[in-house]
Amino acid sequence: MRSDWWKEAVIYQIYPKSFYDSNDDGIGDLKGIIEKLPYLVDLGVDALWLSPVYLSPQIDNGYDIADYRKIDPIFGDNEDLYALIAAAHDKGLKIIMDFVANHTSDQHLWFQESRKSKDNFFSDFYIWQDAKPDGSPPNNWGSSFGGSAWTFDERRKQYYLHYYAKEQPDLNWENPFVREYIYDMMRFWKAKGVDGWRMDVITSISKDWQFPDNPRSNTTENQQNGPRMHEFIHELNQAVLAPFDMMSVGESPAAKAHDAYTLVDPKREELDMIFTFEHMHIDRKKGDVNGRWVLKKRDLVALKEILSNWQHELKDKGWNALYFENHDRARVISRWGNDTNHRYECATAFATVLHGLQGTPFIYQGEEIGMTNADFEITDYEDIELLGNYDYYVKQQQTISHEDFLQAAHKVSRDNARTPMQWTAEKNAGFTKGVPWFKLNPAYSKINVANDLKSDHSIYRYYQKLIALRHNETILKEGTYELLLPTDEQIFAYLRKDNQKQWRIVANLSENTIENPFAASDQKAQVILSNQKNQLVSDYLQPYEAYIVEA
Ligand code: GLC
Ligand code: CA
Repeated sequence: MRSDWWKEAVIYQIYPKSFYDSNDDGIGDLKGIIEKLPYLVDLGVDALWLSPVYLSPQIDNGYDIADYRKIDPIFGDNEDLYALIAAAHDKGLKIIMDFVANHTSDQHLWFQESRKSKDNFFSDFYIWQDAKPDGSPPNNWGSSFGGSAWTFDERRKQYYLHYYAKEQPDLNWENPFVREYIYDMMRFWKAKGVDGWRMDVITSISKDWQFPDNPRSNTTENQQNGPRMHEFIHELNQAVLAPFDMMSVGESPAAKAHDAYTLVDPKREELDMIFTFEHMHIDRKKGDVNGRWVLKKRDLVALKEILSNWQHELKDKGWNALYFENHDRARVISRWGNDTNHRYECATAFATVLHGLQGTPFIYQGEEIGMTNADFEITDYEDIELLGNYDYYVKQQQTISHEDFLQAAHKVSRDNARTPMQWTAEKNAGFTKGVPWFKLNPAYSKINVANDLKSDHSIYRYYQKLIALRHNETILKEGTYELLLPTDEQIFAYLRKDNQKQWRIVANLSENTIENPFAASDQKAQVILSNQKNQLVSDYLQPYEAYIVEA
């Protein structure tokens, strides 16, 4: 029997490299996570998702795995992970690992063998194709990190496919041995106590072996929903997820609200949840030659519509994964809100909107204290996506200026979320006593856990309340959803309803003081939660005011 503990859970994502460094080598590690478990238990979360900690050359911060069963020495060793699992389980926390099986590192033994010849056991573990007669790549597909998705291997005299860096060759899921090896690896981790998987770009695993060109060169629209995707995911479900009762949440960049059920309808036996990207594009200029580096003002009406569509489409047909932040996203208050004079209100308002929805909320480390984007210089950044795209668009193609690219990076680059966790106001924010692997966000002297916990405006304490509500109030789990004021450009408001009661969730996601359209009824209602000092509903909504009332 499959359990569905995750429907009542709030899940906390840890980016281990930047969480807490226990041995002062400048890199966060597994022992560091063990040390901080009380912090997470106190917050009230139910499960931890760890970004990859496996053996890796760290070209893409661990999303390039050289050995799926071994912990990278920068994080500790396998025993440390087993100790973390045991300690977490002791405290009632589940452990979700990252599953990166669209590709491996080029240092993985399978690839090392595969590139040797066309006729060894591993030859077909990856996607090899001959060059065109003129020596150019088999087609015009692009890599997400800039340039072609094909790299020529001198030894094998063929091109191999990589949707990401050239050091991340894509696995060939057509090969049944590849799939069996992956399932076997999953069973290995199940036996070590792992409770579930976050599945990295799982919707990319099936490729179109006709290799048709994209409409434009070096773009990535071919990457999603290949012909055998559902078949492979269903097989994976039947081989491991179902029999071993492991929870799954898949990264699904192309899924839309109307077809999301094809991945998460329990009857189809594929995945439990998926991460949509749809709502993350409300500030992107679509189809620009500079990819995701050309922005427009956030469109709140679109955000409401998209999230509402997902609420309706998956009602009784699946389950939502709710998020605004992760290791690939910027800090939401810096991107879509105000991270200076309304930081507390803004952080808690976005949290209220997200945690009031039906689904499983995901919190990304630092979100619970309102961490902000880091406005670095280009030379300060580490991320291969950012640097690869900078090189491609600014230097090679010259379709965007340095200044414009940097401005976009300040808003949306992945590195905004990857600066070390800010624990205290001490040197390096108490993250390490050594030399940190990545520059800290200078805001740490003000924004840090210690300060937040001392403040009577504690974002962490607000999250505690939200999480407690999710645990204690079935209306949040089971209640229906109805969007209010769909075309309002400042207010995000909706109703949740079950047999017993009705809740209204209201957030002013603007910097303006505006009339409260619900004042008449909500002033008479019982306030469940509010980010205002007096905990009252008034005739006006203050900037980023948010509340929940029993209406
Ligand atoms: C996913 C990960 C991202 C990584 C990419 C390649 O999108 O979340 O961090 O770079 O896949 O593995
Ligand atoms: Ca360390």
